[in-house]
Order: sequence, then C-alpha cells, then structure tokens
Amino acid sequence: MVISGETLYIICKNLTDVFRAEKVLSEAGISVRTVPSPPKEAGPCSTVLEISGNDLEKSETLLKQCFIETVKVIPARAERTALLERLTGFDRSSAFSAALSRIMEGSPPTLPDLRVLLEAAGEDRQILWKAADNIRQACIGDVVDIRAALEFSNHCRRNCLYCGLRRENRKLARYRMTETEILDQALKIKEMGIRTIILQSGEDTWFTTERIVSLIQGIKKETGMRITLSLGEREPEEYIIFKEAGADNYLLKVETTDPALYKALHPDMSVVDRMEHVRMIKKARYITGSGNIIGLPGQDIDSIARDIIWCWQEGIHMIGIGPFIPAPNTPLEAHTPGAVGLTLNAIAVTRLVCRNAFIPSTTALATLDRKAQMQGLACGANTVMLIMTPPGVREKYMIYGNKMMVDLEWALTMINSLGRKRPSYITGAF
Ligand code: 5AD
Ligand code: SF4
Repeated sequence: MVISGETLYIICKNLTDVFRAEKVLSEAGISVRTVPSPPKEAGPCSTVLEISGNDLEKSETLLKQCFIETVKVIPARAERTALLERLTGFDRSSAFSAALSRIMEGSPPTLPDLRVLLEAAGEDRQILWKAADNIRQACIGDVVDIRAALEFSNHCRRNCLYCGLRRENRKLARYRMTETEILDQALKIKEMGIRTIILQSGEDTWFTTERIVSLIQGIKKETGMRITLSLGEREPEEYIIFKEAGADNYLLKVETTDPALYKALHPDMSVVDRMEHVRMIKKARYITGSGNIIGLPGQDIDSIARDIIWCWQEGIHMIGIGPFIPAPNTPLEAHTPGAVGLTLNAIAVTRLVCRNAFIPSTTALATLDRKAQMQGLACGANTVMLIMTPPGVREKYMIYGNKMMVDLEWALTMINSLGRKRPSYITGAF
C-alpha cells in the first residue's frame, strides 16, 4: 500500500527507460531523482526513480503517454527492516543509540546524528559496524563485486596539495600508456573474468576527446566490458560524448564538500565547480561515483558528516571513502595519515545512509593496513578494486607512497575469510 506523501521508487524495465522517464518527469516539473535500486528489485548498481507519493498519479499518466513501461512502484521504506532488534548490547538510552535508531529507521540524515555516529568508539563502534554490515547484507547481498583499475597516465594539470601526481611534483617520472598497451591490458583483464574496467588517469589533456573516444570504442569492441571513467574534470560536452561512445560509469570524487578546506587543498579549483561537474555527470546519465578523503589536514567530523549528507542528497551510486595518506614530495608529506577507525566509521555511516550504493573498501585503506581493507568489507563496503596497471608503470602512479597492490588473489582471500561470496563471473583458482 502506498501512503500519500511517502517517498516511492519507480522501477523501470531497463536503464534507458529510467533515464527517459527521469527526463519526461523532470520536464513536467515533477521532482524526481535517480537513485541506486533497492535490494533484489533491479539488481545492484542499477537505478530506480525516486518520487513523492503525491506525484504518483501524474507520473504514471505521463509515463504511459510516453510508452515508458514501469515494472513496479514500491515504497522507499519497504526495505527498512527491524535490524536493530538483532543487535546485541544495544543500550537504547544513549545519544548514540538514539541516532542509530533514527538512521536505521530511515529518517533523513542530520548533522547531529551523523556526528554522533562518526564519533562512535569502543562498544558503540562495534555496534555501528555490525548495523552497517546488516544493512549491506539486506540491501546488496553477500557478493563482493570485483573491478579492475588501469591507470593509463600519471600526467596531471592540477596541483592538489595531497597528491603525488600534482603538476609541481617534478620528482615523479611521468608516463602515458599507448592505445595498444591499454587495449592489451584490457584484454588481460577481460580474460580474468572481470566485467568492469576503470580507466583512471591524472587530468591529462594529451588524451583529447578523440583519443578517449577511441579508447572507449576499442575496449567496448574488443572486450564488451563495462567502462568506468575516472579522468577528473573534463569539458561539459565531453561527458556526453564519452557516454555516447559507450562509457557506463564515471567517478569524480568531491574529495571534501567543505568550501574553505577544498580551496586550501586545490589552489586552482572550487568546490562549487566540483559539485557541478558531478551533477553534469549524473545528468549525462552515467552511473555516478563520488566520495571523499578522511583525515585531510584541517578536516573535522562535521565536514565528513556533510560529505555523507551530500552523497545522499545527490543520490550518488558509488561512494569511495579512503583515508588521507601523506604523499612524498607534496606539501602535506609530513602530516599524519587519516585514522583507520574513523575511515571505517565513515564507511559504515555511509552504508546506513546511502543504503543501496556501491561502496568500495579502498586501496588507500589497504595501504594503511591490509586488515583494514577486510574490515571495510565487514562494516558496509561491498566492492574491491584491483590494480591492473602493468608492472613497469604502476610504480609511477604514485598518488601516495607504498600503494598496496590489491590483486585478485588478495581479493579472493578476503572474500573467503569473511565468508562472503565471490562474483559468479570470477572462476579462477583460490
Ligand atoms: N591520500 C589519499 N587519497 C588520495 N588521493 C589522491 N591523493 C591522495 C592521498 N594523498 C585520491 C583522491 C583522488 C584519487 C585519484 O586518489 O581521492 O580522487
Ligand atoms: Fe591530479 Fe587527481 Fe592528483 Fe588532483 S588528485 S593532482 S586532479 S591526479
């Protein structure tokens, strides 16, 4: 039963219909968002439309007129199970438990609630992680998705203070893989059974629109894999061109939504532009990834809470959260790294708030502590990214020092020891 005014999900037959429907409804003045699909409804990383129940009738009429078939309409609350009851040691009187109850019952995230959850320590922390793990299981299931990153160029026109690829780091040997090298490596990734390749680089304008289009088309033709782009900020029209050429997903981390902190860390960039780029990417109908860095010098808990609320408001589909790691030859090289515990809390809180999103347990986490990457999977994360950049150049993709080379063997070891499921498409040994 649908209660009037309640938030609803409209499930369409396929992604094309979702995006067509979004266009039709928004042009008719209906407030609509595309958000990750709820569990078992349209497959993870798929997308549904979120509308208010008050607009249901009008929306259904409009969609019918445009011959857009809807599969189902469900209340957004249906999945909010009484998981809290299953948590042991839950003291209902504390500020922590009040905040956790509200978030788990589906209340919109507030700054005070997220602050309390992010600060959870001791027993509360264990409860927070368990709650996130329960939600992950209910919303996404036990399969740990495995994707492969190919870091094809470490040239960058930007100067982010924390990053080893920044243009003023003259100590870094720069490289660009050729199109043939990139295609060869994509084929190797395909042979491993992987279905999604992440094409990642610094902001390298040598890779013009035409060159990126050629890469996308070549990889699609030769491998049929899904393609995630992680190229930094590009020209607005390029997002559309790359999508039309066959790219499926785009990752652009906001890094921090805090305007002053963003300005301090990115001398020639602005957070308003950054957020606008994420919006453009979403509007170009990509499955959209973003996320932040935890423990940046000058960042506080509220700032992290706001990052999570922003991801929720924007309906981000994939959310990468990694600790800050001081990178050699950068202005921040002497700072302390982000705390592992806080990063794990941020992953857990993000899972509780953005339930159906894809959340990786990041390479940055693995770099600080191998075990922490496994812990990330146990407190809300559901995906792991392998580094598939070929030896010889991978050492030069020095975003930060001593980057952990997460490979298939390690990913499967983690999955096995956590009792999770490997994806059906990975059939190798281990
Ligand atoms: N520590 C942690 N993450 C970093 N990144 C860049 N430099 C660092 C660092 N020192 C991340 C940013 C960026 C991605 C390429 O790597 O989030 O989006
Ligand atoms: Fe370039 Fe990205 Fe590093 Fe910034 S974070 S310097 S844009 S590679």
